[in-house]
Amino acid sequence: MRVRSFVIGGILFLVIFQLIENWPTIVQSLGFKEEARASKHVLIALEVSFWLIGAYLVNRLINRFFWDGAMARAMQRTVPGVLKDIGSVLVYIITGACIAGFVFNQSITAFLATLGAGGVVLGFALRNLLADLFTGLAVNFDNNFAIGDWLVVPSSSGGDGTVGQVDEIGWRCARLTCEDGTTIVLPNSILGLEKIVNISRPSVMTRFEASVTIDYTVPVERVRRILLAALVSVSSQEGFCKETKPKVLVSNTGKRGVKYNLRYWIHPWHPLSPNTSRDLVLTAALQHLQTAGITPAYTKAEVFHEPLPAKHFQGHSIADKVSLLSHISIFEKLEESELQRVAAEMRRVQLSADEVLFRRNDEGESLFILIEGLLNVQVDLSGSGQEQTVSQLSPGEFFGEMALLTGEPRSATIQARTAAVVYEISRLTVVHLIEERPEISECMSRAVAQRQMKLDQARNRLANGEAKAKVQSLTKQIMFKMKDFFKS
Ligand code: CMP
Repeated sequence: MRVRSFVIGGILFLVIFQLIENWPTIVQSLGFKEEARASKHVLIALEVSFWLIGAYLVNRLINRFFWDGAMARAMQRTVPGVLKDIGSVLVYIITGACIAGFVFNQSITAFLATLGAGGVVLGFALRNLLADLFTGLAVNFDNNFAIGDWLVVPSSSGGDGTVGQVDEIGWRCARLTCEDGTTIVLPNSILGLEKIVNISRPSVMTRFEASVTIDYTVPVERVRRILLAALVSVSSQEGFCKETKPKVLVSNTGKRGVKYNLRYWIHPWHPLSPNTSRDLVLTAALQHLQTAGITPAYTKAEVFHEPLPAKHFQGHSIADKVSLLSHISIFEKLEESELQRVAAEMRRVQLSADEVLFRRNDEGESLFILIEGLLNVQVDLSGSGQEQTVSQLSPGEFFGEMALLTGEPRSATIQARTAAVVYEISRLTVVHLIEERPEISECMSRAVAQRQMKLDQARNRLANGEAKAKVQSLTKQIMFKMKDFFKS
């Protein structure tokens, strides 16, 4: 029916066209000379109209028989509108050239040249639009996706991308309808540049994956068994492909545990969407794991609990003092309880630089330990009353033991070289300690002998070679003297 109307329309058009073309001749041959001249302008208008009507008819014929007929059959799908539109533009350009040539007797080449120059200016102004247009053409000819296909469009934020179905591929952009009912307008140039995933090609059947991470302590084989059972249980539902087997694969190992990928095939949107299928798969996986008593891995850290070491000791508490004493050589071997007894009794003395703690020949009833700073040991070597430094005491050393152990007056003056902190331990505490720990008295006696010998050396009373023998005999003497002194 439509073909016949096209044919009749075409014949009528040709008849009328010939009539118009030859109208002045016909009118003149009938004897109407004046009328023939006047009707010339009307005839031009009619000729132009008929060329345009002709172009319209040709265009309709091309659309009907070429694009929607032969081309659609060759491409095995509907021909995109953009191709038809380009065809139409070409038909009207040719018609314009014919009107210029046949109606106005102008050169067709000049017309086309003018059109070309105009095209260059327009092309520059509309270059982005033209880029979209030509990419759209390329996309159509490449036939990588068609109306009705589901595409994954990459998201600008770098996420999973958005899934949408192609509704239209136009001159400038393609229109996609998403699962959530929204529309994505995608400029054709992006279709040409970005990596677009076509879910519907090469076949509608598409593979998807969902992942679960399980702790390292659960054997891989056990997890595989449980997850595969979960996958198989959902795969029998409508929408999942029956011809391909689902799989469970170990995809990675990480901080949290082993990552398992649950791989399955579906016919997207017939009737399952990828999101719905993932929901079904993961729900089944979690249910199966829960029944087996396995919880998916979560971020965790191993914590070792241990009291923090003290940052610094103020020396105010007994515990602080015990800690200080434990670093002093003569107390190193004492039990915690013994250290606590000494710590509870000792007294803190703070000295500023150059301050004298005690003088030579003073009465001495206590032992000292130096914790912070430096002390000078000073003696009047020449007998002139002018004291000189014979030795220096450093933190961790004890002093004042000579007078304490022998009952003699202080053998030297102790003066702070820098600001210092010392602890004073009373004679009574030392006596108790020595009674319980005889080794302490031996250690102290040796120190006394060494220091005594140093003093003698300083006074030039002793030659170097005699020193060792002198220390030994002096130690014995002091021990003897000390026992005597403590007995009294
Ligand atoms: P005491 O005699 O009670 O008082 C002065 C202290 O100075 C003395 O005990 C020793 O502990 C200490 N002393 C004496 N001579 C020396 C020395 N040569 N080196 C280090 N310390 C000393």
